[in-house]
Amino acid sequence: MVKPQLVVGLDVGTYLTKIAVAKQLRPDKEPSVIALGTTVSEGLRRGSVVDIHDVTRSIVVALEQASKMIEEDISQVIISINGDHLGCITTAGKVAVSRADGEVTQEDIERVIHNATPGPSSSNKSVIDVIPKNFILDEESGIKNPIGMNGIRLEVEALLLEGGTSAMKNIDKCVEESHLHIQHHMVGPIASSQSVLTKKQKELGVMALDMGAGTTSLAVYEEGKLVHIAVIPVGAGHVTQDLAIGMRTSIEVAEKVKIKYGIALESSLGADGKAQIDLSKLSDEEVGVFPVSYVADIIEARLKEIFEQVRAELKSIEREGLLPAGVVLVGGGANIQSVVDLAKRELRLPVKLGIPVGIEGSIADVDNPLYANLVGLLLSGFDEDYDEESLSLGSGDGSVSESGLGGLGNLFKKVLSVFLPTD
Ligand SMILES: Nc1ncnc2c1ncn2[C@@H]1O[C@H](COP(=O)(O)OP(=O)(O)OP(=O)(O)O)[C@@H](O)[C@H]1O
Ligand SMILES: [Mg+2]
Repeated sequence: MVKPQLVVGLDVGTYLTKIAVAKQLRPDKEPSVIALGTTVSEGLRRGSVVDIHDVTRSIVVALEQASKMIEEDISQVIISINGDHLGCITTAGKVAVSRADGEVTQEDIERVIHNATPGPSSSNKSVIDVIPKNFILDEESGIKNPIGMNGIRLEVEALLLEGGTSAMKNIDKCVEESHLHIQHHMVGPIASSQSVLTKKQKELGVMALDMGAGTTSLAVYEEGKLVHIAVIPVGAGHVTQDLAIGMRTSIEVAEKVKIKYGIALESSLGADGKAQIDLSKLSDEEVGVFPVSYVADIIEARLKEIFEQVRAELKSIEREGLLPAGVVLVGGGANIQSVVDLAKRELRLPVKLGIPVGIEGSIADVDNPLYANLVGLLLSGFDEDYDEESLSLGSGDGSVSESGLGGLGNLFKKVLSVFLPTD
């Protein structure tokens, strides 16, 4: 009998380091989470590593927690790349079809994508992936698969994903220092999307919005394809900091207040807004009493600012208020009460909470927006076509390519199969 495959996901977030182990326990069922480890992270800022030793220690703590729950050894992990160094550029390429009879071949596709890959936008960035959005053959646009068609000139419009070279090397280093081998990487907002967005939503036009602690990251899909990613360097952790300042209390107490009493829409409180929060009940060292409405005011102000930046991102791709399938909120910040209502008002779009699907929580429950990124990583591990079909770093060997274009050979394979139909 084939031993059930163990898939391990690792999401190193600014606030929480999360590791989950999943296994296909029964062939007719979804894979199940059999171990989960979470710990408060140290050594990250805005999703990026600022202290390798602290981050490594956080990974080891989460790893030990998860390891205690299973008999098998954890040796390899799928990791997400997070941080405000991530970004994308729209690019285009053009080539002449090479065959004398004008039939488009795979080689033409590779050449046109190469032509559309100018390299990263600056010397400290690396290309992660190039995703075709549209092929144009002799000025006929919107062609899904040009292979086998006839033409003279082949063009492509593509989305180039890039990230900070050092930032990506640093997270790899932390994982390796934790004695773990990297199976593959996934771009954070893409991983989150995989666990909460349906094919239909992606077809219609949708945004996954991951409200993390140090970052708010987004991935926009249209006609089934990724059309934009962005990472805003502000998140729910800033809400906590604002509360600490506003109540002149510690971060720890502010965090407790946020989770217990926090609400995103002050106007939804009504008479409840007058209820008092007594800090001395949360910590012996604290004094001070604040109305719930005061806390809601602080939270709403910061979240409004975050949604304004999200709207600016949508505006930059001319999709402000224009995504028919709306917005799906994930990440820990999505758990703030009434954040969905505030997001609806600020983004002027339908908004709902994203509960990750596709993995069961037999031991630990992962059906919380907090685990969207992590579940996305696990799903990629069970997807037999992942290498061919999904997005990961170009080098394919788990490392970030030196030049940013070093992994292009492998990247082509991935890019093509993202685009090409499998049936
Ligand atoms: N139930 C809850 N109510 C309110 N806030 C919550 C709740 N659960 C988690 N959070 C907040 O969510 C944030 C953590 O979310 P998450 O784990 O998604 O962030 P992260 O992945 O560590 O950060 P990033 O993605 O920015 O690197 C914290 O700021 C935490 O206070
Ligand atoms: Mg996160």
